[in-house]
Amino acid sequence: METLYLDHDKNTVVILDQNLLPQKIEYLPLTDIHQVWAAIRELKVRGAPAIGVVAAMGLYIEMKNTSSQDSFEEKFNAACKYLSTSRPTAVNLDWALAQMTEVYEANKTKPIPEIITALGDAADKIAADDTNICRRIGQHGATLLKEGMGILTHCNAGALAATKYGTALAPIYIAKEQGLNLRVYADETRPVLQGARLTAFELHQASIDTTLICDNMAATVMAKGLVDVVFVGCDRVAANGDTANKIGTYGVAVLAKNFGIPFYVCAPLSTIDMATATGDDIVIEERDPAEVTDLWYREPMAPKGVKVFNPAFDVTPANFISGYITENGIILPPFSL
Ligand code: MRU
Repeated sequence: METLYLDHDKNTVVILDQNLLPQKIEYLPLTDIHQVWAAIRELKVRGAPAIGVVAAMGLYIEMKNTSSQDSFEEKFNAACKYLSTSRPTAVNLDWALAQMTEVYEANKTKPIPEIITALGDAADKIAADDTNICRRIGQHGATLLKEGMGILTHCNAGALAATKYGTALAPIYIAKEQGLNLRVYADETRPVLQGARLTAFELHQASIDTTLICDNMAATVMAKGLVDVVFVGCDRVAANGDTANKIGTYGVAVLAKNFGIPFYVCAPLSTIDMATATGDDIVIEERDPAEVTDLWYREPMAPKGVKVFNPAFDVTPANFISGYITENGIILPPFSL
């Protein structure tokens, strides 16, 4: 099951529509940059690495549609700026657009068909590199796992959040390839239920022993001794190690520390943002209050007009994090990248 791919012949970005999971497995062709922007904003495609890859592909299909009247450079810059506004927290989005910009700058004096080919190759490379990087994160993370261990994860940082393997779930997939039997506890991850709809779905499909819990049950499973390690993904790591990830991650980290359970953040090195000094500088997306009050319910589950606070991410301070599992190994701040 692929999360996303570029259909060069039809000039479309094809995504697995994550809003329909787990009920329906349906691929959605995105034919222009506005559809790509909306798919990112509406979480049809989500997860930091996947957002970056899809943005690069979206930029490419937009540039391939350039007519002779358009100024290529103006259109390229406007498209980058526009895609960058689709979601604010995951650094991978701007990172992927910066990679595409580097390729554009290196090729911009060439004839337009050659620039377009270079951009297409770059988007494909970003996707292929992502798969390779996630596999290496998995290999490093798997060294921490032993037969029968219990792992708790929050949100979805699996194959559905990347091109393959994911980040936090990659060690679990690699350990399974190595023959280990593991138990995974997946937080449902209110309010959009990425843990229930996506993590439980993909782990279950992969025949991994998976138990879904409500977010407020994590302390109980930890207190029962069922969790040996926590693996989470992340959207941006600040230079000091503070880490933004799906709302609720901070609470899991506090619990893990309380119970003496190691808490690992799994991320490509590109998610470490040395330009952001600390977690205080990370922009946290706030989303529609209806995600809290109405989504999933036949009728609204809160009094009409009540105030709602719906941040999509929180920041876990670096001192709660046992290590950062990257493609180059397990590291700790200060980072030298
Ligand atoms: O709002 P989402 O679903 O895009 O949030 C995703 C997360 O917080 C993931 O844990 C993070 O992007 C890492 S994905 C490998």
